[in-house]
Amino acid sequence: MNNSPANLLIRKLDIDLATGFPRHWHNDDAFKSMYYNALSMSFPVGEQFFIDSVRAGLELLPDTPEHASLRVTIRQFIGQEATHRHIHYLYNSHLEKQGLNNHWQHWALRRIAIAEKYKFHPLSLLAITAAYEHCTAILADGTLRYANWFDGAEPKMQTLWRWHAAEETEHKAVAYDLYQTLGGGYMRRVSWYAYTALLFILEAGSQTLLNLHRDKSLFRASTYWSALKFLFGKNGSIWRYTLPMLQYFSYRFHPNKHGKRELAEQWLNDNAELWRDVNARVN
Ligand SMILES: [Fe+2]
Ligand SMILES: [Fe+2]
Repeated sequence: MNNSPANLLIRKLDIDLATGFPRHWHNDDAFKSMYYNALSMSFPVGEQFFIDSVRAGLELLPDTPEHASLRVTIRQFIGQEATHRHIHYLYNSHLEKQGLNNHWQHWALRRIAIAEKYKFHPLSLLAITAAYEHCTAILADGTLRYANWFDGAEPKMQTLWRWHAAEETEHKAVAYDLYQTLGGGYMRRVSWYAYTALLFILEAGSQTLLNLHRDKSLFRASTYWSALKFLFGKNGSIWRYTLPMLQYFSYRFHPNKHGKRELAEQWLNDNAELWRDVNARVN
């Protein structure tokens, strides 16, 4: 089944990260700033892995007319992820200047080296990519759906995170569709998902704690109060993540059956002055 949209735009975002942003850019809240910083730290290495996995999968896809549209979509997926990598590289460079250490990238690089050493099957690499794409799609849907997730943050950081969320929503089915088209099965998909989702939660939590420690805000009561609200408050992540995380185990799961794609379209239309279409380069 190929439900991926036939045309994903590659957008260049008009924001200036060279001038940096405050340490507590998220509403002066240390916990939320360091949590989203942690996620950003995972993206340059992670998204390169997604690109490499779908490229390897693309080589296995028969060059026949029935797959022509999926081939184009995959190239556009690569274009979108490459843009995200670049923006988050700039973002993370600023975090380094603020004194934060990116441990997550080294954890990920070590795992990628193991996958290369033991020559993981391309379908397993795609299953891991599809699993991460589902985790990202849940975060993206919440980012676009619940205004309170980013309200009060620096305007350019709101733009960056919502733009990334919109494109993740647009392309959330691409790796999954390629996996299925290449004959990837249920057991491989859910086994890698269970491992990947657990790792994602553990590493996001660990990097957030390390960031808070470097930020000297780990032992403040306000940090824990914010974390509690983030987990259990209005639109808290425990309430909003758990069910969609579990839905991936359904035999009939497909990424496009979940979330609200219109939210991405609406944000992109409402903020059209903030991005430029550079799609022509990859078609
Ligand atoms: Fe991305
Ligand atoms: Fe993605």
